[in-house]
Amino acid sequence: MEFKKNSLLLAPMAGITEPVFRGICREFGADIVVSEMVSAEGILYGSKATIGLIMFDEVQRPTGIQLFGGNPEHLARAASFVESKVSPDFIDLNAGCPVQKVVKKNGGSSLLRDITHFGRIVRSMVDAVSTPVTVKIRSGLHKFQWIDVEFALMAQDCGAAAITLHPRSQSMMFSGHSFWERIAEVKKAVSIPVIGNGDICTASDALEMFDQTGCDCIMIGRGVYGNPWLFRQIKDALSERPVQEVDIRYRLTVALDHLERYRSVYKDSVAGRDMKKHAAWYCKGVPNAAVLRNTIFRCSSAEELRSILLQALESVT
Ligand SMILES: Cc1cc2nc3c(=O)[nH]c(=O)nc-3n(C[C@H](O)[C@H](O)[C@H](O)COP(=O)(O)O)c2cc1C
Repeated sequence: MEFKKNSLLLAPMAGITEPVFRGICREFGADIVVSEMVSAEGILYGSKATIGLIMFDEVQRPTGIQLFGGNPEHLARAASFVESKVSPDFIDLNAGCPVQKVVKKNGGSSLLRDITHFGRIVRSMVDAVSTPVTVKIRSGLHKFQWIDVEFALMAQDCGAAAITLHPRSQSMMFSGHSFWERIAEVKKAVSIPVIGNGDICTASDALEMFDQTGCDCIMIGRGVYGNPWLFRQIKDALSERPVQEVDIRYRLTVALDHLERYRSVYKDSVAGRDMKKHAAWYCKGVPNAAVLRNTIFRCSSAEELRSILLQALESVT
């Protein structure tokens, strides 16, 4: 697995980047996709729901599976299980999640508390599998007390194949703007590919991140909410082709297609429930979007959601 220059990655996002959305993003130009974080303990426990999260369609390769946890031996065994079960293109270690549920279990950004322990985890995962192991970190625990360079160097020394940096601290959660200059610092320090992440919402943001930081690849999360064609727009911008804007009809047509794909994979009740947020995001710019969103969140089935989106589409024709 190679992280080629200028590759565009879909960020791991719990509850969002399941296989259907990953597939859509691949079709719109994402070069590499990553699963949402998967608990190493859940895998070792044999939880069916957890193991379900590591499954993916072959057509979506290259796909990375992201693991979280805090125990080196358990993470190594979970990585080995993932490798033997689905043979992903890479396995990513989550050392960035600031959410209490994960931090409390000594996973995610809590790994930034102790660099020796962090190194032990990366090394044990690298030793356990022949699949490349990558690491995703934040810039530190506290704003302006940046420790990203040390952790990136440690990850590299322990055999990581690439490093993703989301340059906020654990304490910042998602507030403020990310500190892109930290990506530049990490890029200067390591020789493995650096994947820059944080606050890319438009094609010009993507160009700016490449330009300002020198990163090798970029990773996009919230910017693709209801906006998966952003990957295509970035590709166009990188190739100096005109960036095509999309109109409301297009947005709603993609939303309907997204819903149909969801329904072909998930039970109707699950599709109806989980597609609401995507549908609401696709409705950005639709006349009376607030009213439409309200209707979407109140609907009780996938079929009802389909009628709402169809009606919205007819109203803009
Ligand atoms: C709803 C949500 C879920 C997320 N889940 C994960 C996750 O499972 N693993 C991870 O490493 N980061 C996770 N993140 C962080 C994103 O991968 C990304 O680092 C962050 O959103 C910043 O990038 P962005 O500004 O492009 O969204 C999540 C973010 C959001 C908003």
